[in-house]
Amino acid sequence: MIYARIAGTGSYLPGQPVTNADLVARGIDTSDEWVVGRTGIHARHLAEAGVSASDLAYEAALRAIDAAAVQADEIDLIIVATSTPDYIFPSTAALLQSKLGVRNNGAAFDVQAVCSGFVYALSIAEKFIRSGSHRKALVVGSEIFSRILDWSDRGTCVLFGDGAGAVVLEAADEPGLLASALHADGSYNPILCVPGGVAGGAVTGDPFLRMDGQAVFKFAVRVLGEVAGEVLDEAGLTSEDVDWLIPHQANVRIIQATAKRLGLPMERVITTVGEHGNTSAASIPLALDKAVRDGRVQRGHRLVLEGVGGGFTWGAVLLAF
Ligand code: ACO
Repeated sequence: MIYARIAGTGSYLPGQPVTNADLVARGIDTSDEWVVGRTGIHARHLAEAGVSASDLAYEAALRAIDAAAVQADEIDLIIVATSTPDYIFPSTAALLQSKLGVRNNGAAFDVQAVCSGFVYALSIAEKFIRSGSHRKALVVGSEIFSRILDWSDRGTCVLFGDGAGAVVLEAADEPGLLASALHADGSYNPILCVPGGVAGGAVTGDPFLRMDGQAVFKFAVRVLGEVAGEVLDEAGLTSEDVDWLIPHQANVRIIQATAKRLGLPMERVITTVGEHGNTSAASIPLALDKAVRDGRVQRGHRLVLEGVGGGFTWGAVLLAF
């Protein structure tokens, strides 16, 4: 039997933290009190012009490859979860492969599931590895959401940040990923979307993120509670058996409500939204890497990673680290 386990993690944040006070100084009509009170966000990182999602992915990937003690040319599958790719095509994963100096070694492709993208990508990579077709996967979430924000819409621009997180997932004799569940309901697409495109050399529709915040909040709390329960049931476990919940980092109030539904104390929940804001597909691997490097997440710990985002999409992975 072939299993898949995480061999190493890495992450990267561009530049210095940009605080809520910095946003006020840049002319955003908001306050630290409002943003912290409604979301728990104190700061986020914003990429400089000219820096792309594949640049952030590259830095996170180098750290994950180093932590996994593998060589880049051993990687035979690269999946990048992103909604802010460098180009329409080629994929950010293909650009990342090129930056890593790897040529013609297995598959490379992007996954587009917005804030659920990393959980989707991890679950897909596990299926490739368990099938025996691939041995070492680099799974990355990388986003530059600052490029798709309407900076005159204070209801959304204060919520997001840029960054990347990565893991190396490799074939193993012992179980690593224990259960996963992925869902989508496209009928909810209007409550969180960037309803634009490019045609004939011009932007069509609206190229900025639009959101019904209250509808998103209610939806997120419901499905995050449900999908964590689903993977625990699949593995015959309960929340008592979970060492760490690592949820998508959108809003600390969503995270607290989800933890409460699962009966998990906040001491067993990793939260980075305060320092990173919502980095969409990057948020879960960023939080995982931080908790691995500061020693909270240790080998053998059971983790639930779970995400929800535009689409709507949602999903969870239960794993033994
Ligand atoms: N600063 C100051 N005031 C603001 C700001 C701001 N940045 N944004 C909105 N306001 C004002 C509004 O204008 C409104 O004022 P009014 O009462 O005078 O009209 C007031 O604050 C309340 O606005 P609401 O939008 O009703 O605020 P709400 O309590 O719903 O909080 C928030 C908004 C924080 C976005 C909340 O709905 C939320 O967290 N939703 C979840 C959205 C989310 O996390 N999305 C992330 C993407 S989805 C994902 O990752 C799963």
